[in-house]
Amino acid sequence: MHLSRRGLLYGSAGAAAVSLAGCGAGEESASLTGFTGISMPTDTSERWVIEGKALESNLKGLGYDVIHQNAKDVVEDQIAQIQSMVDEGVEFLVIAAIDNTSLGQVLADAKDKGVTVIAYDRLILETPDVDFYASFDNYQVGVLQATHIIDRLGMRDNPGPFNIELFSGDLGDNNSQYFFMGGLDTLESFIYEGKVLIPSGQTEQEPTATAGWSGDAAQTRMSDLLGEFYDDDETELHAVLSPYDGISRGVVAALVDADYEPGTGGFPVVTGQDAEAASVKAIKDGTGQTETVFKDTRQLAHTVTGMVKAIVDGGDPEVNDLGTYDNGFKFVPSLLLEPVDVTADNYKEVIVDSEYLTEEQIDAGEA
Ligand code: GAL
Repeated sequence: MHLSRRGLLYGSAGAAAVSLAGCGAGEESASLTGFTGISMPTDTSERWVIEGKALESNLKGLGYDVIHQNAKDVVEDQIAQIQSMVDEGVEFLVIAAIDNTSLGQVLADAKDKGVTVIAYDRLILETPDVDFYASFDNYQVGVLQATHIIDRLGMRDNPGPFNIELFSGDLGDNNSQYFFMGGLDTLESFIYEGKVLIPSGQTEQEPTATAGWSGDAAQTRMSDLLGEFYDDDETELHAVLSPYDGISRGVVAALVDADYEPGTGGFPVVTGQDAEAASVKAIKDGTGQTETVFKDTRQLAHTVTGMVKAIVDGGDPEVNDLGTYDNGFKFVPSLLLEPVDVTADNYKEVIVDSEYLTEEQIDAGEA
């Protein structure tokens, strides 16, 4: 693991830009035109499609040429797409990796050609050739999810015990460990106290992982857990720590199949992330998960556009964390934004008033 459990301290996002004097990015600026390759990982989760388009239009709006491709979950395609961007002469690569350790070779080639590499939301590991990282405070995402469970079950004032199951994301995505660790650290004292039980005994990242962040895979695992560990009249499930809305909806489907009734007190608390329209609808209507973590991805795309522009203009990109994201070679200078907890109480203010989704999109369950 690259995560130090307590190593995520930094000043608040957006505050105090850290100067990167000496990184040298600006030195080549005279000849830079802003030509950028954008490589997105999947089109099954709506955010990557929206952000790919936002990045493309932001960069084109600055007059830069852009190649934008989505590798649709195929690692080899992502490598080939990036290689062809490098061959076309891009000066910048903005990459959300499918598999965080698969890009070493193509990035070595990019580096030889002087390309600046920005890891977009997902850190790229085991290569010296990543210059910057832009994301959210991923550990805090897990903290918010677990805190929702604690609050919703009234765990501080109620003796319990509460039965909880844990889900984590794709093992090839560096973010997964941060979400999981943030959640586990927050639940830790309740687990030690015996207030929280995990009947499956699956408390490590690997057995709880969800390949490809797939809702179907999550549904299957949840059904298996219910069949194996909750198949008597006494053992009731009280909450599921889920790291991402697509997984949460799979979990909810399995719970409904097993006759848990959404909207009733007996329905487990289910968390999520990304404020996908279908999940915000469930939160609003009380028909499934009760929480999601909103990451304003418009802000992320804007931030990364600003990084490219800063370098083209001969300056240094703003970062606010130099000591958290170790990619196996170095701590990658990072700009981390703040995630926001969303429930039925504040979805309107956070999601609708900010124009991230309209009420119509939420009611339709589609962005
Ligand atoms: C992660 C990302 C999450 C979610 C997930 C599945 O890398 O941080 O917000 O989108 O991928 O797409």
